[in-house]
Amino acid sequence: MMKIEPFALERYFARYEFTARHLLSCSDCESLPMADVLAMADDATRDLWDHLRLGYTDSQGHPLLREAIAAIYDDIRPQDILVTVPEEGIFLLMQALLNPGDHVVCTFPGYQSLYAVAQSIGCSVSYWTADESHGWRFAIDRLESILQNSTRLVVTNFPHNPTGYLPPREDFEALVDLLRQRNIPLLADEMYRFLEQNAEDRLPAACDLYDQAVSLFGLSKTFGLPGLRIGWLATRNQALGTRMGRLKDYTTICSSAPSEILALMALRNRDAIIAQQNARLQKNRAALDRFFRVQAGCITGQSPPAGSLCFPRMQTVADTYTFCEELIQETGIMLAPSRLFAYGDHHVRIGFGREDFPEVLARFGDYLKMRFG
Ligand SMILES: Cc1ncc(COP(=O)(O)O)c(C=O)c1O
Repeated sequence: MMKIEPFALERYFARYEFTARHLLSCSDCESLPMADVLAMADDATRDLWDHLRLGYTDSQGHPLLREAIAAIYDDIRPQDILVTVPEEGIFLLMQALLNPGDHVVCTFPGYQSLYAVAQSIGCSVSYWTADESHGWRFAIDRLESILQNSTRLVVTNFPHNPTGYLPPREDFEALVDLLRQRNIPLLADEMYRFLEQNAEDRLPAACDLYDQAVSLFGLSKTFGLPGLRIGWLATRNQALGTRMGRLKDYTTICSSAPSEILALMALRNRDAIIAQQNARLQKNRAALDRFFRVQAGCITGQSPPAGSLCFPRMQTVADTYTFCEELIQETGIMLAPSRLFAYGDHHVRIGFGREDFPEVLARFGDYLKMRFG
């Protein structure tokens, strides 16, 4: 029986996400009403919806859905895609690739399953840590120094949860070159892709750059459709793709039939949805920067170059975990403290993808003023 640590962030969300009055730490963009998604559908997809039978679905993913997903990439075919729940994708890749004793490198701090699943398999995981004093930079020479002969997988997550870091393209290409020279597979968690502040800074998808890379993406964050539970793994490594597909028979077998059709509608309107989410993020980023200027004595941060999250440091509290508990009790505002990322007690994660963000941030600002002056 597999032993795995409880997922600290997800347990915290389970406690508060549906009870807190105001959410200030969600990673997803504002969710779309189902009616809006249906209204976007072209006639052919609407017809699929109207005549949908609720049977089992194609285990690899609906062929039309995989076609729409493949169109996001330069060099990926529909058969190179495995539709999964995003979280499930991390699990399948690691179960397919890793053995006890393997060495794995993972960006840190980060989304817990990106390292905890490997640890549960019995791998030793080295953390590739971000440098806060350089805008949360992940330095390539630091990665190079922790790679070992037995490194079986490197895991990255750019745009990064929780810091919003996005490497310059040269750094990302250097990373891929380094792994290619040593033939080390890469899991690139690209869940926040297309949320770059400047579109020209967007990184290429890892699966397009490198045949030993697996890109993880989905509709939860960028598209604001986490309730569909639709994501995918994309790789040109066919043997690995087949192994992951076989493991899916032991997790979900296949995706939800209605979700697949709604996902197809969303992907066929991907530019419009992404533009709408980015317009909201841009507005919210302006509110966030004003907040950091006004609260400079209390909380240090800046709006990040990509994604919907940032990870500022609180100067005036000794322990952000206790602070967040007090905050939620006194104001109903939910923030995520850095202890949930095993990253000490000085930071909090702020999520700025939601429509009510400026209003909730203003409430948080009022609280800080009341408490710290
Ligand atoms: C970096 C990262 N990867 C994967 C996931 C999993 O996505 P989902 O919750 O839609 O399964 C998340 C969600 O928080 C995430 O932030």
